[in-house]
Amino acid sequence: MGAGIIGKRLAAALSAPAGEQDTYAPRLAGIALRGPNIFATARPELPVFAADARAAERLREVGTEPKGDLDQLLASADIVVDCGPSRTGAGRSEVYAAHGVRAVFCGGERDARLGPLIHSALNPQVAARPGGLRVLSCNTTALARVLAGIGPDDVRTLDATILRCSTDTDKATKGITNGAVLARDPSHHAADLRAVAPGPTVRTAAATVPMTAGHFLHVRLTLRAGLGAAEGLDRLRRAERVDVLAGEEPVHTAQLKERSEAPWHDRYDVQIVPIGQPGKDRLEFWLSLDNQAITIPETLDAIQLAAPGGTARQARLTSDRMLRTRSTAHHSLHPTSDGGPR
Ligand SMILES: NC(=O)c1ccc[n+]([C@@H]2O[C@H](COP(=O)([O-])OP(=O)(O)OC[C@H]3O[C@@H](n4cnc5c(N)ncnc54)[C@H](OP(=O)(O)O)[C@@H]3O)[C@@H](O)[C@H]2O)c1
Repeated sequence: MGAGIIGKRLAAALSAPAGEQDTYAPRLAGIALRGPNIFATARPELPVFAADARAAERLREVGTEPKGDLDQLLASADIVVDCGPSRTGAGRSEVYAAHGVRAVFCGGERDARLGPLIHSALNPQVAARPGGLRVLSCNTTALARVLAGIGPDDVRTLDATILRCSTDTDKATKGITNGAVLARDPSHHAADLRAVAPGPTVRTAAATVPMTAGHFLHVRLTLRAGLGAAEGLDRLRRAERVDVLAGEEPVHTAQLKERSEAPWHDRYDVQIVPIGQPGKDRLEFWLSLDNQAITIPETLDAIQLAAPGGTARQARLTSDRMLRTRSTAHHSLHPTSDGGPR
């Protein structure tokens, strides 16, 4: 449902030619649209369905003949991925439930009645419950990967200051272009993270700054006594969907995006830039993430976990293969031997 920033990326991943290993990878049944959409127009081979009667008219006006309506699409699908604007999914969830189709909501839904928050490496077991699933937001996904990489039981406290770009589609009203907007309340990310990993003490605060792409976070961790910060950083180097950038030079986040070879210059991995030397039990680093792309792997995971069978690990491997994370974005973002980002 919907083919905006997130929907078009998922539609592209779900309609890409399947590799030999990916016979069981989820496939696109169709895209429900409210009207003409530039991505769908550019990809006329994709099956477009009209969200309602008015949508069908509007699509025909621009020469797109819908393959059917939403009822027909839901009748032919196992899972619906709701990629509508944040906090509007509740209005559509009854239609999905009436068709007996499980829904995965994309990152912006706060309403717990839509289903539990899920991260495939931290609490995949919640997918066994009936009903919908809610993918974490982009910043929370980045923090969840950090916890999963180190091990949530080995992190005592996590403090994060989140600096989000003011052009984020559904958060545009939160930002200004000639200054920063400083939120007074703790941000939602801490509570969301506790929902998927209840162990560590988590505190988060957010501000919105004039950038046109990506978010970044200043993260401070204290680790379980005895683990050692160097070991914590090593675990992050080995973690899934995480790149720890080596080198001495400052990192320019716009260059990270520019150099990704994935479609739309997407960065599916989160980049970590360590600050200083690891302390005894303390780690401090920057996280840089592509808000438009980072949740795509976890959303593909959630789609697979919403279907019966399979393990979370298999789901993550399949998602990564579908996105070719390792062969494109990952490769192109590693720093050069002179330490600077390429
Ligand atoms: N953008 C990000 O960086 C980001 C990152 C992580 C998670 N998310 C979350 O992902 C979800 C989608 O965000 P997005 O950025 O992709 O939004 P978006 O670019 O604004 O796209 C929303 C899509 O939903 C359609 N839509 C709007 N109202 C609808 C309705 N009432 N019923 C059905 N479809 C409707 C829109 O169609 P029209 O073109 O016809 O309006 C559009 O195709 C949100 O929950 C968001 O919080 C976004």
